[in-house]
Amino acid sequence: MLKSLFVYGVLGVLLIPAKCELISVCVENDDDLRVDCRIEPKPNKINSYEFSWSIGTKESTINTNVSGSSAEVQFKDKSYVEELEPYGYRMTMSGFRDKLPHNTTYMCKISQDGARITVEKDQLLECSAVSVFLKSSCSLIACLLLFFYQTHS
Ligand SMILES: *[C@@H]1O[C@H](CO)[C@@H](O)[C@H](O)[C@H]1NC(C)=O
Ligand SMILES: *[C@@H]1O[C@H](CO)[C@@H](O)[C@H](O)[C@H]1NC(C)=O
Repeated sequence: MLKSLFVYGVLGVLLIPAKCELISVCVENDDDLRVDCRIEPKPNKINSYEFSWSIGTKESTINTNVSGSSAEVQFKDKSYVEELEPYGYRMTMSGFRDKLPHNTTYMCKISQDGARITVEKDQLLECSAVSVFLKSSCSLIACLLLFFYQTHS
């Protein structure tokens, strides 16, 4: 009993900072900015995405396919969106890395559910580092859950 409490405690400390984020931002080798949005779509809602950021109090739409909305002129043809597996969307944008102010809040919405993250310019991570980290932490969680499920049943 004590031993398993100890194990849970250690795991909790290890896993809390490593949870799988709904939205993540990183910089690719070629200096493109990449925003991944992993919000699970609701089956009964129209499938749509919207990527935006806010700098200070100004919010700008970068890319969207919500009907009736459109990207700001400065972002036209600067970004593209791909689908992620098993769900979610990835927006990649070029030509803005050097123009970022100190703090930027990145936002995304999928079928009207939203997530946001604020990143300071000098804390933007390389995508290569992030993807290894995220993949390993997410699959680690899956492994651990399976492990506990098996040992406790
Ligand atoms: C937005 O794009 C996705 C993926 O290409 C598509 O499945 C969805 O139907 C689009 N939504 C709208 C409102 O056009
Ligand atoms: C950026 O955000 C951090 C933390 O939210 C804050 O402490 C800092 O003052 C902000 N910097 C600027 C230039 O707004």
